[in-house]
Amino acid sequence: MSSYSIKKFAVIGAGNMGSGIAQKIATEGFECVLVDLNDEQVARGMGIIRNLLDQGVERKVFRPKQAEAILSRLHGTSDWSELADVDLVIEAVFEDVDVKRSVFGRLSEHCKPNAILATNTSSFYVKELVSAVTNPERLIGLHYFFHPAKNRLVEVIGHDGTDPEAFRAAWASQEAIGKTPIFSKDAPGFVVNRYFVPWVNEGVRLLGEGVANIATIEWAAKKAFGVGMGPFELMNVTGVPISMHAANSLGASLHPFYAPGQALVDFCATDERNWNLEGEVDESKYDAIADRMFAVTFYVACQLVDEGVGSVEDTDIGARVGLRWPTGPFELLNRVGVPRAQALVQALVTVHGLDMPKMLSHAHETGVKIELVSLCTEGDVAHIRFNQPSTMNALDKNVLMQFDSKLTLDQAVGKPLVIGGSGKAFVAGADIKFFVDGLKRDDYPSIAEFAAYGQKLFLELNGKEHATVARAHGLALGGGAEMAIACDWICASPKSAFGFPETSIGIFPGLGGTQRLPRRVGMPIAKYLIYTGQILDAKSALQIGLIDAVASFDELDATCEEWALKGPSKSRVAPEQCPSEDWQPVWDFFSQYSVDDILSGEADALGNPLLEKAASKMAHKSYHALKLAENLFLEGAHMDIERALELEARDLDKAFLHADGLEGLSAMLERRRPAFQQPAFA
Ligand SMILES: NC(=O)c1ccc[n+]([C@@H]2O[C@H](COP(=O)([O-])OP(=O)(O)OC[C@H]3O[C@@H](n4cnc5c(N)ncnc54)[C@H](O)[C@@H]3O)[C@@H](O)[C@H]2O)c1
Repeated sequence: MSSYSIKKFAVIGAGNMGSGIAQKIATEGFECVLVDLNDEQVARGMGIIRNLLDQGVERKVFRPKQAEAILSRLHGTSDWSELADVDLVIEAVFEDVDVKRSVFGRLSEHCKPNAILATNTSSFYVKELVSAVTNPERLIGLHYFFHPAKNRLVEVIGHDGTDPEAFRAAWASQEAIGKTPIFSKDAPGFVVNRYFVPWVNEGVRLLGEGVANIATIEWAAKKAFGVGMGPFELMNVTGVPISMHAANSLGASLHPFYAPGQALVDFCATDERNWNLEGEVDESKYDAIADRMFAVTFYVACQLVDEGVGSVEDTDIGARVGLRWPTGPFELLNRVGVPRAQALVQALVTVHGLDMPKMLSHAHETGVKIELVSLCTEGDVAHIRFNQPSTMNALDKNVLMQFDSKLTLDQAVGKPLVIGGSGKAFVAGADIKFFVDGLKRDDYPSIAEFAAYGQKLFLELNGKEHATVARAHGLALGGGAEMAIACDWICASPKSAFGFPETSIGIFPGLGGTQRLPRRVGMPIAKYLIYTGQILDAKSALQIGLIDAVASFDELDATCEEWALKGPSKSRVAPEQCPSEDWQPVWDFFSQYSVDDILSGEADALGNPLLEKAASKMAHKSYHALKLAENLFLEGAHMDIERALELEARDLDKAFLHADGLEGLSAMLERRRPAFQQPAFA
């Protein structure tokens, strides 16, 4: 049991960042004390939050009651004695090391000795604050991104003396508040600003060297990186002096290459606030600009990985989640191609007197390896993690191939295995676009091949000598829920959710769902879940035995390990009776009535609103998909699991090649209601 358990938060500094961080914490259901210098500043910060919540209510992001509940979890004060019982404090005061040190000194006086103390500094090392803190093993960096109530990324940074348990607890607390944490070493700019600041600065250099005007640089940067704003517009939005300060601080601690370009220095000496973005675009300059911006990005990304500041995967996650780039630096590098990237970076390092990053000079010409799925071992347990938070860890062919190789490695390691996702999802399904593209190309065999591959891997999970545990901390939907039920055990956070929504999109769960689910929760409840697509929260999932344990975020890893060490669940048999009184009406209804009985209105819901809602949900599905699922339930019920899975695979073409399959899948991609050829209500 960790000595750090985080239930109550505090934020020091109710400015732009602090108010947003506190808002996010309260939005995710935790209490948070918000502290500033005096009552006026506190009121200002609370006012910022209130305004944002009001806007959220206007835009229907929150209901008025939700906004009130969020505010009720926030407590603004200038009285530091109110910090006595908080478990994690996040400092977000001015970026001045002396001010920060004095804040940490005060925190050491007022907080309990095992409260984790975190800094949101952008430009100092975390270690620079160690001397100000009593018990500095609980000091950590939590670097958020603007706007912190909306932007999910957070860099978690330890210093040399950080207690690994404090680090783990801080990490878990960020998952608990819906953030996507990435690891960063205590280094200048951490991971993301290390390449983002030079990216902006390269735009400035191109301008200063007269390569192109601002409008052209903006256009080319947006096109090359697929982003919404170029470097100059971004500086205008975040404040030009912030870019100047960030480049100055990287330049001072790393190399003159990172220092602000002369055009930025000159601009900051004027009274201008914003760069003028107007001007004619000269498209002939595209390559000259894109090549330079690629070179800077690739150089810094490779260099930071060489230095162990961050991993390839976290560097890309940082770009996708924190900067909203559609592709991370390493994915881009692979697209550009290693030989060309090497040539571009070679030109850059020659100009600036830098060394070529080793990982780039040694990179295989086919590309830098990006671990979409990673494997590590800690003590007695191996961990597989899906690393694609921006796609909610959706399963596609590349992901399955990497999962396959990690499963094989795991066999070599021969340890119990915990499988988890990153970001807000466990695994939120399969890659729908791949299905739609395949169908439009008349290439059903590629879909069948993908499904067969998924089934094979899930069967392997099921048949392992050691236990497999799904660490479900967020959404487990469709293929993700099917992966979870292929594991021996499922341990979930209170924020997890489970669902099998396939019949809403004209297909049925084809990665074992129609056969494993009845064997796990009993046939009637499996029918309910697959016919209605109802999403269950962790509490309900536990009630019906879909999952095995629910643990708070800070205990989730320990709980997974505990279940992993129990060994495989060889003795699990389908329940023959309803596992919970609350579920008895569902059990009885779906035991008794067929899809046709329910849809024709012949099934008697006995005025039970839950059952009426279930019937009405079914009426919006594809009738064809419902009937296929029903048939699979009936046919597969008495088979051994291997044969039952073959049966499921056999019928997949009936779903995918039916018009409702393409319509349902396309509608999901296009975020519209499907117009099924065979709607269930017909
Ligand atoms: N703005 C960004 O985009 C961004 C992004 C990541 C990190 N950061 C970092 O977050 C921190 C805060 O930045 P910001 O933009 O919110 O600044 P800000 O100026 O908007 O807010 C700072 C707040 O801290 C309060 N404060 C100052 N000294 C204090 C003290 N001794 N005790 C209590 N409160 C005190 C101020 O009254 C003010 O309300 C900085 O370290 C900054 O580098 C900023």
